[in-house]
Amino acid sequence: MASLLVLITLCLVAVGIEGTHNVTISVLETAISRGADGTPPAYAYSPGFGEGVDNWHVFLEGGAWCGSTAGCLNRSGTSLGSSAKLISINNGIQSFSGMLDDNSTFNPDFYNWHVFKIFYCDGSSFMSDIEDVDPKDNLTYRGLRIYDAMMDELLRIGMGNARNALLSGTSAGGLATILHCDRFQALFQNTTRVKCVSDSGFFIHG
Ligand SMILES: *[C@@H]1O[C@H](CO)[C@@H](O)[C@H](O)[C@H]1NC(C)=O
Ligand SMILES: *[C@@H]1O[C@H](CO)[C@@H](O)[C@H](O)[C@H]1NC(C)=O
Ligand SMILES: *[C@@H]1O[C@H](CO)[C@@H](O)[C@H](O)[C@H]1NC(C)=O
Ligand SMILES: *[C@@H]1O[C@H](CO)[C@@H](O)[C@H](O)[C@H]1NC(C)=O
Ligand SMILES: *[C@@H]1O[C@H](CO)[C@@H](O)[C@H](O)[C@H]1NC(C)=O
Repeated sequence: MASLLVLITLCLVAVGIEGTHNVTISVLETAISRGADGTPPAYAYSPGFGEGVDNWHVFLEGGAWCGSTAGCLNRSGTSLGSSAKLISINNGIQSFSGMLDDNSTFNPDFYNWHVFKIFYCDGSSFMSDIEDVDPKDNLTYRGLRIYDAMMDELLRIGMGNARNALLSGTSAGGLATILHCDRFQALFQNTTRVKCVSDSGFFIHG
């Protein structure tokens, strides 16, 4: 089992001392053929460098869930459901800071790692996998296929040879981290050190 660290609350960056690093938002066209719906899913990738070239950090974005057809339909037109919308409202750029920053002053432990952020556009913590399309509104529920397509892309660009691999996420992405941790570890040989960090990803039914 990969070790799983759950952070109930996390505050890494004090106001005024963070760096940022702008990364282009890309889409994964190949995910369309898997049946992921509408616009292709999006990611932002910043390659590792120096001594970090064998280390990979995969980060899952958060953003709650949709719990009804109406709610999912609402999301489908926002940046949490459409990569076209995501790219247009962010001018195609994602700012990486905190643990994703490439500046060793602000991020001494991970600054030179590969960083691959997967945007959240399925409303189900990357878990849904339903073949049928809802005929009333054309919604598809296929977040797991987005996750799998992204993992295939990561392996294609070299993650399989990682010395260290970290899966992390916040909120709905933190829950996705818990739920996908073992499957993430299964992508690697036993020579890779694999860890999962769930930030604010455990929800009490209170
Ligand atoms: C990053 O992008 C933002 C807006 O998209 C811009 O204001 C900022 O100057 C950019 N930062 C760097 C370091 O390029
Ligand atoms: C969907 O969006 C509309 C308009 O913003 C809002 O009135 C409605 O409450 C939303 N429905 C759900 C289920 O989120
Ligand atoms: C990191 O940030 C510090 C403080 O803003 C700056 O002086 C330095 O040039 C940055 N390093 C790199 C490699 O960008
Ligand atoms: C669903 O998609 C089909 C085929 O693209 C289209 O004909 C139909 O109008 C769509 N229905 C809705 C509710 O958008
Ligand atoms: C790692 O895997 C190799 C072959 O797949 C096996 O021979 C070896 O015993 C494993 N090592 C550990 C520590 O599990």
